[in-house]
Amino acid sequence: MSAPIVAGEQSQINETPQPAADAPAQVAQAAPQAGSQAAQAPVQAEGDIAIDDSNSAYTDDLSTYTASLTSSVLNFPSENGRRYSAFREGTYVFPNDEREQDRMDIHHEMMLKACDGRLHLAPLTNPRRILDIGTGTGIWCIEMGDHYPDADVIGNDFSPVQPNMVPRNVKFEVDDVEAPWAHPIKFDYIHSRFMAGSIADWPKLVQTCYDNLNPGGIAEFVDGDFLLYSEDGSMKDSWLEKWNSDFVRAASLGGRTLRPGLQLEEWVRAAGFEDVHLEKIRLPIGLWPKDRQLASNTSKTFPIYQKNCS
Ligand SMILES: C[S@@+](CC[C@H](N)C(=O)[O-])C[C@H]1O[C@@H](n2cnc3c(N)ncnc32)[C@H](O)[C@@H]1O
Repeated sequence: MSAPIVAGEQSQINETPQPAADAPAQVAQAAPQAGSQAAQAPVQAEGDIAIDDSNSAYTDDLSTYTASLTSSVLNFPSENGRRYSAFREGTYVFPNDEREQDRMDIHHEMMLKACDGRLHLAPLTNPRRILDIGTGTGIWCIEMGDHYPDADVIGNDFSPVQPNMVPRNVKFEVDDVEAPWAHPIKFDYIHSRFMAGSIADWPKLVQTCYDNLNPGGIAEFVDGDFLLYSEDGSMKDSWLEKWNSDFVRAASLGGRTLRPGLQLEEWVRAAGFEDVHLEKIRLPIGLWPKDRQLASNTSKTFPIYQKNCS
C-alpha cells in the first residue's frame, strides 16, 4: 500500500480580501451561500460559547455538545454487529464504532511514524484557521490544536464521535464535505487524510478546498492507493490479492475510488493550486521489511489486515 501526499498552494491572484485571519470562528452561525443549492450550516459538535474554565487549556462542554446535536445525527444505526453514521445514512459504508475508531487512531500513529513524527508536511507559518475534513476521531485536530495554540482548528465529519476534552482552540462539526460549504471565513490550511472510499467527486472537493483557502493558503491531501502489491511478486494469486482487488473494484462500482492517491496531483493542479509537491510513502502491511522504520510501522498495521482478511 502506498500513501501519496500532495500539497499545493492557493494562487495569490484574483482574490478578494478576506476577514482578518484571527477573527473568531463562527462555525455554527454560517449564513447560507447565495446560489441555487443553499449551503447548510454544519451542526456544531463542540461549543464556542464562553466557558469559565480559565485554569484548563482543555474544555469539556458536554452540555453544549449534546444540546447542539439532534437525534437524527446521534441515533447511529447498527447492522451485523457494527455501528454506522446516522447523518447521511448509507452514504459512507465504513462503521463509526469503537473498533473502527481504534483503526483510525492506529492509522494516525502509522502516518506519524511514516512522516518522522510530523503532523503535516506542508510548510506552515503561523496558520490561524485550520480545517480537517473527515476528521474521524479528531486525533489529528487535537494534536494540531496543541501544536498551534494560536490557530482555530476545526474538524468536520459525518459522525460526532470525537471526544469532548479537547484543546480550547479545537472545534468539531457534523457536516458533509461534499455539500456546499458554509464557513464564512476562509482557511489558511486545509488537511484531508484517508478519504479514499468516501468521496464521490474528488475534483469538485479539491476545487472546494481551493475556493475556501485564503490567498497563499495551503491544502494537503494524504491519501492512498489501496490496491496492495508485493515487490517480490509473492502476493500473486493469493487470497489477499483476490480479496483486495475485489474490494477495490466493489468500491469503484459503488462510485468511490480506493485509489485517489494516483490522481491527486492531477486534481490539485486542475483546481488551480500552485507550487504543488507530491511525496510517495510506502506503507508495508507484512512483518518482513528489513528497514527498521518500515518494520516498526508494520508491526502496528499488520494485525489489522490480518484480522480483517482472515
Ligand atoms: C477513513 S476515516 C479517516 C479519518 C481521519 N481523516 C484520519 O485520517 O484519521 C474517513 C472519515 O471521513 C468521514 N467522512 C466520509 N465521508 C464524509 C463526508 N462526505 N463528509 C464528512 N465526513 C465524511 C467518515 O465518517 C470517517 O470518519
